[in-house]
Amino acid sequence: MANYTDKVSIETAETSKISTVDFSNLDFGRVFTDHMFVCDYKDGKWQDPQIMPYQAMTFDPSARVFHYGQAVFEGMKAYKDKDGKIFLFRPKQNFDRINKSSERLAMPAFPENYFFEGLEALLKLDSEWIKPGVGNSLYLRPFVIATEPAISASPANMYRFMIICSPAQSYYNSAVRVLIADHYSRSANGGVGAAKAAGNYAAQFYPTSLAQEKGFQQVVWTDADTHTFLEEAGTMNVFFRVNDKLITAPTSDRILDGITRKSIIQIAEDLGITCEVRQVTVEEIKNAAKDGSLKEVFGAGTAAVISPISAFEHQGELFEISGTDAEDAYNKLFKKTLLNIQHNLSEDKHGWRHEVK
Ligand code: COI
Repeated sequence: MANYTDKVSIETAETSKISTVDFSNLDFGRVFTDHMFVCDYKDGKWQDPQIMPYQAMTFDPSARVFHYGQAVFEGMKAYKDKDGKIFLFRPKQNFDRINKSSERLAMPAFPENYFFEGLEALLKLDSEWIKPGVGNSLYLRPFVIATEPAISASPANMYRFMIICSPAQSYYNSAVRVLIADHYSRSANGGVGAAKAAGNYAAQFYPTSLAQEKGFQQVVWTDADTHTFLEEAGTMNVFFRVNDKLITAPTSDRILDGITRKSIIQIAEDLGITCEVRQVTVEEIKNAAKDGSLKEVFGAGTAAVISPISAFEHQGELFEISGTDAEDAYNKLFKKTLLNIQHNLSEDKHGWRHEVK
């Protein structure tokens, strides 16, 4: 049986890098805090959880992650309110999801007490890196990689779980223009699309770079079989506002069960806005754009928060979406409502905030 009672050992950094960081001008995911959390799986159990100075690590070139991509991750954020209290947003959801992703990639589940003890100790140690104020956050990246030095194509028996932290502002600096996929696919039935598997992201880079050459930042993926149904955008789930109603695709084994996505569905209900969770076709959204009933499209994700989509192209037809920037746009309302909950500025009626004490 795994021994889950070991305490997290802490080695602090001799000096802090924080004075070298311009917190008013952060490029997403390039600067990391002074410490990281590391825990290894060997001899059938997770052991030796430690916090140590952020540093490069060495791995055997035959480590399985390099050959077979056994790697999963999470995206979370920590927020600080004006009194200096630190909050996480629905962290148990991330914990459950990383283990679900691990299970899909034949990797061992990480223990809940290590996850929370490691994460909270890390946040307390690097708390200066969490800047108060709406728009600021500390992006947290828990991940697991297969470290066993062996290249037979089978699951590893050694893994490393880590958490690294990066101060963040916005992921997209302005509204996003997207291309709707009609050839490449992100995921397939029975595949790993619902897992936060590293390879899901790598697989998007090439088609996304082709879209970028045409002036689009992201691809909105469609079902692999028919390219008829709109699914997700890879870094975010997607919502469509048709007249006053929201529509978003149901989760499936092809679509990530986004925590921001499910929070938006709940907030819509709280605000009395109809949100239909159902299959949505490319044709339906193109028709809505043509007849003027498509008011907004936006993405929802931890890094992206709520990111308005200002235009989409499908098979050479370009549609500009005019309502995205309106004062009363849903994307602004949802973003504000969500950020207020995350930053302890409004009531938390669903118990989503988790204070790090
Ligand atoms: C997140 O929103 O946390 C994600 O995982 C998307 C990431 C690729 C930036």
